[in-house]
Amino acid sequence: RSKWKMFKRTVQFGLLGGIGYSAYVLWDARNPPFQAPFDPEKKTIVILGSGWASTSLLKSIDTDLYNVVVVSPRNYFLFTPLLPSCTVGTIDVRSIVEPTRFITRHKSREVKVYEADCTEVDPFNKTVTISDNSEIKGQVNSSKVPYDYLVIGVGATNQTFGIKGVQEHALFLKEVWDAQKIRTRLMDCIETAGFPNQSPEEIDRLLHMVVVGGGPTGVEYAAELHDFLVEDLTTWYPELAGKLKITLIEALPNVLPAFSKQLIDYTEANFKEQNISIHTKTMVKEVHDREITVQQADGSLAQMPYGLLVWATGNTSRPVVRNLMSKFPQTQTVGRGLLVDDWLKMQGSNDIYVLGDAAASKYAPTAQVASQQGKYLARLFSKLALQDELETEVYALSDIDEKARKLRRLEKVRRNIKPFHYSHQGSLAYIGSDKAIADLPWGSGNVASGGVATYVFWRSVYLSNLFSIRNRALVATDWIKKNVLGRDISRE
Ligand code: FAD
Ligand code: NAI
Repeated sequence: RSKWKMFKRTVQFGLLGGIGYSAYVLWDARNPPFQAPFDPEKKTIVILGSGWASTSLLKSIDTDLYNVVVVSPRNYFLFTPLLPSCTVGTIDVRSIVEPTRFITRHKSREVKVYEADCTEVDPFNKTVTISDNSEIKGQVNSSKVPYDYLVIGVGATNQTFGIKGVQEHALFLKEVWDAQKIRTRLMDCIETAGFPNQSPEEIDRLLHMVVVGGGPTGVEYAAELHDFLVEDLTTWYPELAGKLKITLIEALPNVLPAFSKQLIDYTEANFKEQNISIHTKTMVKEVHDREITVQQADGSLAQMPYGLLVWATGNTSRPVVRNLMSKFPQTQTVGRGLLVDDWLKMQGSNDIYVLGDAAASKYAPTAQVASQQGKYLARLFSKLALQDELETEVYALSDIDEKARKLRRLEKVRRNIKPFHYSHQGSLAYIGSDKAIADLPWGSGNVASGGVATYVFWRSVYLSNLFSIRNRALVATDWIKKNVLGRDISRE
């Protein structure tokens, strides 16, 4: 009996503690502390971008040691892994963004956040030019910001390989507005297909959704579109839903080349079951406003009419990155990004660091790599600050023994600045019908799994990886809402 009482009391205390802690976390989130102002004695780090790499750095950086300035054309972080779910309304875009100021306002020192594009880096005078691209124009739209250290986390832009018509007619899937545009276009195609007296050929064209690129972005988008079709469109557009076709075009012999063979086969079989037609060994050669020209496996050319065209053929470097490369012709010789050393320092520079998709490194352009690099760089900056402090002290000391002792410590700190090490946690992708695939590292090998259980795992991983409690609550609510009420089919 007394044991039962003890157990009950422990549970009660545990619950109370949990509620108290959650209340404190929520209160703390809404009530940021007083922040110290910029310190002219400290070095200034300018961080470009508010994506995976920059936000991870921002979360971990010690602002007692540096002044920090963030420059990004969007004033929020976007959780890209759930972006395909926003194209059909499974998740609301607001649920997967986190305002950058929610992070910076909790730092011990004030962090300046400028919503602007960095248009040019001047590595010789150590300044960046920033430009306000918002629709509201102030009196000043361009400015120069000086830095001691510059961190380039501007990500990458969409690769089109210069194929004619892609920029004009295709939609991409990288940013919040891309997902919104896709959703609007999709609903437009369906509503227009239902317009009176539309010819059968035109209905078929409007309801043909083509995805180019069989990497994870293309596959996940096709999967979300399929779910929307079977779970919602069949109910609300019974006369049209049966005519909607999804086609995935991939230049290589199979989709998802980075996944293991059995998961590729599993995905392709699952897509077949879902009536998503996959055209492998097929290259898009030209894009027109209503059709694309493709080169098929046998080399012949064919026309493929479409209503919606989503282009997901990977990354290429942004103009600001290419401009910086051109200033280092001897060391920056690779077009796909800025070359860095093992400490993520840009080749040819002593004070510029490059993270995530903006870098040309041995790692894949993924959120996992970018966020680990951001965390690593925050630790590296702390060590650099300690190194600077010791160097100043050594310089000022006249006592030989004391100087030698400090020099030994300085040497130890320098030795302790280890190169970046990436720890791969595995790859996941959603493939439709409540199924996901996972390639997970296991010992020296790999474990591959696919199916509904993997989908539950996929959901729990993404839910726990979201940046804040707020995001987790919103995404969980969206998932429940979708299951109970279905997706919203109104046009954005
Ligand atoms: P980004 O996150 O793209 O951030 C770049 C930042 O720079 C943005 O804030 C942007 O506004 C800003 N910026 C752009 N131009 C400028 C400029 N001129 N000046 C200043 N700032 C600028 N990876 C995974 O590991 N797992 C996944 O499940 C996964 N899913 C994905 C799903 C989709 C739909 C997409 C598109 C990508 C996905 N990725 C995933 C890849 C992952 O999102 C990227 O590798 C990651 O975003 C790279 O981080 P980053 O910080 O380098 O760039
Ligand atoms: P990707 O580079 O992984 O895939 C692009 C695909 O498009 C390639 O398979 C390529 O062969 C194909 N392609 C190129 N040109 C073509 C053409 N003209 N016609 C037909 N096919 C063509 O690009 P993606 O999917 O955008 O991914 C970018 C990065 O983001 C990758 O590193 C990826 O791993 C990561 N990512 C990860 C996700 C996950 O882990 N779930 C989800 C989305 C992206």
